[in-house]
Amino acid sequence: MAKRAPIRFGAIGCGGAGTDRILQLAKHALGVQVVAAADLRPECLDNLEKNLGYSVARYTGPQDYRRMITDNALDAVGIFTPHIPHYEHVTYALAQGKHVLIEKPMVCGAARAIEITRTLQASGKVGIVHYQRHYEAKFVKARELIRKGVIGEIKTFYVYMAQDWSGHAWRGDPEFSGGGQINDSGSHYQDILLWMTDLLPRSAEGFVDNWHQGDRKRIEINGMFNVELSNGAAGRIIIVGDILGGFQDDVRIRGTKGDLMFYGNKVLLRPEGKDIEEVPCPLPAGYPVSPCDNFVKLVRGRCRQNRVPFTFGVRVALLTEAMLRSGRQGGARVACADILKESGLSMADVV
Ligand SMILES: NC(=O)c1ccc[n+]([C@@H]2O[C@H](COP(=O)([O-])OP(=O)(O)OC[C@H]3O[C@@H](n4cnc5c(N)ncnc54)[C@H](O)[C@@H]3O)[C@@H](O)[C@H]2O)c1
Repeated sequence: MAKRAPIRFGAIGCGGAGTDRILQLAKHALGVQVVAAADLRPECLDNLEKNLGYSVARYTGPQDYRRMITDNALDAVGIFTPHIPHYEHVTYALAQGKHVLIEKPMVCGAARAIEITRTLQASGKVGIVHYQRHYEAKFVKARELIRKGVIGEIKTFYVYMAQDWSGHAWRGDPEFSGGGQINDSGSHYQDILLWMTDLLPRSAEGFVDNWHQGDRKRIEINGMFNVELSNGAAGRIIIVGDILGGFQDDVRIRGTKGDLMFYGNKVLLRPEGKDIEEVPCPLPAGYPVSPCDNFVKLVRGRCRQNRVPFTFGVRVALLTEAMLRSGRQGGARVACADILKESGLSMADVV
């Protein structure tokens, strides 16, 4: 049987995350050829070509990603640029009928997230958001336990993430970051809560500050919020950029029948009134190992389930927007439905 031609892939943004994702794709057993790449920094393209071991068509102007997409008969596009330009890049890639792998946060703002999700759905193409925690065995298991009702109805939660995050380079510029650390690493934690519980956000109220090691930055560095979910559960999300030293996180979810927590890569279950037990969490057979793996297999028709469809990008965009707005309004309660109403949308549009 004739060997299938490789997936023709082009990337916009070949910095840290982009290079990592592109190299993963290029090594995929089902065949991906990186034919083109766009980045404003030629040295990023040099580095990419060196790591790939072959040349690609190169584009370095801010709008050159358009020619990259139209001139190279691409099947798929990867978007690994700063947060605000994601919208422009994904809109163009979808308009040209490409499959899309996009870094988190998918796009900034719920209305835009809904718009591109509808465009993707109408196109019939594959779209995945690069939230890699959907492929981590402990979170996969926790989601499964919650869906099976092992801890009952979700009542409350505690989600904490801290990282020494100073808002370096574009991350410190509101024009590109779209919400500082709350929208950057924080995005993973808004996402993992919503993904595991499979609930929608209802409201957020809380405070942000811009301080990092005594310097006031232009973007949000720290934030603490009370968040309500669609079933009435309410709990706390704390995102910190001003910590000395390494990364920390802590995610705990309480239902009517017990608690779920994590310790390193372990899932810990405390059924109501009983001792804590560790729940083994091997990744289910056939589960893709990463967003890149899932993406290639979906494009190739070798798996059916998209583990991070754009709808999760919508949910996170909505919750993040509510958190940021509340912080900017000095802690007022911001209802997700009110955000959507401004664009003529409702919670029914958050699918
Ligand atoms: N999933 C994760 O854990 C994770 C980790 C790191 C970064 N990210 C995400 O990846 C994305 C990129 O972050 P990064 O750390 O790689 O940043 P980076 O600065 O290393 O890379 C971004 C690149 O985009 C390029 N770029 C900007 N505008 C462009 C344009 N118009 N056309 C072409 N190239 C353009 C820049 O020159 C830069 O090289 C962000 O969305 C970020 O949140 C995700």
